[in-house]
Amino acid sequence: MTTSQLLITHIGELVTNDPAHGGLLGIIEDAAVVASKGVITWVGRTEDLPADTDAIQSIDAGGAAVIPGYVDAHTHVVFAGDRADEFALRMAGASYEEILASGGGIYSTVEATRAATLGDLVSESVPRIDHMLVSGTTTAEVKSGYGLDIETEAKMLEAIVAIDDITPIDLIPTFLGAHVVGPEYRERRSEYIDLVTGPMLDRVAPLAQFIDVFCDDAAFTLDETRAIVAAGQAHGLGVRLHVDQLSRSGGTALAAELGVLSADHLDHATDEDLAALAKAGTVAVLLPGVSYAMRTPPLPARRIWDAGVTVAIATDCNPGSSYIETMSLIISMAVVTAGLTTQEAVWAATKGGALALGLDDRGVIAPGMLADLVILDAPSHVHLAYRPAGALPLEVIKRGILL
Ligand code: NIG
Ligand code: FE
Repeated sequence: MTTSQLLITHIGELVTNDPAHGGLLGIIEDAAVVASKGVITWVGRTEDLPADTDAIQSIDAGGAAVIPGYVDAHTHVVFAGDRADEFALRMAGASYEEILASGGGIYSTVEATRAATLGDLVSESVPRIDHMLVSGTTTAEVKSGYGLDIETEAKMLEAIVAIDDITPIDLIPTFLGAHVVGPEYRERRSEYIDLVTGPMLDRVAPLAQFIDVFCDDAAFTLDETRAIVAAGQAHGLGVRLHVDQLSRSGGTALAAELGVLSADHLDHATDEDLAALAKAGTVAVLLPGVSYAMRTPPLPARRIWDAGVTVAIATDCNPGSSYIETMSLIISMAVVTAGLTTQEAVWAATKGGALALGLDDRGVIAPGMLADLVILDAPSHVHLAYRPAGALPLEVIKRGILL
């Protein structure tokens, strides 16, 4: 037998997400995992390991739990500056929408991001991405949307691609030129739609995998969203949408009608919207950090899961509504405040995230999948919700390499 890259034995609880092992999480007790060339080659009970198994790196997990690396399917983690002052104002009673309407909020991050060089943007964002990695995230989607002009939207996507090249985490770039109407176009919004669907899209489409629109009363209408989605699709981009976050403006129903890959936020989605989403097979990406930091009611995650919708949970890491890099905190919020079970939340943070990004090679610990693994400082996945600041990774493994 050839020497493998990595062998982990005596895993107290291995969360495989593989239905072959039973239950939602496919848990195997006292488990072992073998990987070679970045890919998992064997999964089973430690006592069943083939006797001649040999690896360059062997780890005895000593009863710790192992889960798939988190797939954080919704972030705005590349940006310049921060909005701590705005946060303090909101905590003292100011509203997110009023701050945005008066030219602050997202617009203040746009100003800072426009002023930053590509190098500044990379060096300001890398520490946040490192923080994601040490807390167990091995794949993250990252959106543009703080440029709102051709040059800065392109600079943001170039920064995402550059950071993907220099860190182990896989970054999936999304074009969000339709975050809000560009500051120069607030009185002539149809011209901004022409820019986003025309020259801006032509410039950035080669840098992005997805297009996203903030479909909300404070941002883009249903008709504007339709036009932007159609243009993105014509450029070969997949589609994800911010919907029904601040009010029920019909974005969830539109996401279902268009059959897009993911519909994100969903704070105000109705039962009818959810039934349509389930039927369309669109993944709901829930962002409990936003309800927390915006002091809005907890997401109706229980109702969304029970409607038969495929659920992912993500950080939405951004300087305004959720400045959180850590998925275990999000798992805890999804359980404690939003009503998912501990098993559902861990599934939604791993396999659910992979489905939301259309990735079928991760989020599951099984032969043939990427060896993206987290060894937790905890005996079971339950501790992620139960002890969110303590059940952090002992080790993060990306493509079979211990980081
Ligand atoms: O997902 N909803 C719109 N966009 C972000 C917030 C961005 C910001 O406030 O900077 C979100 O919550
Ligand atoms: Fe967002």
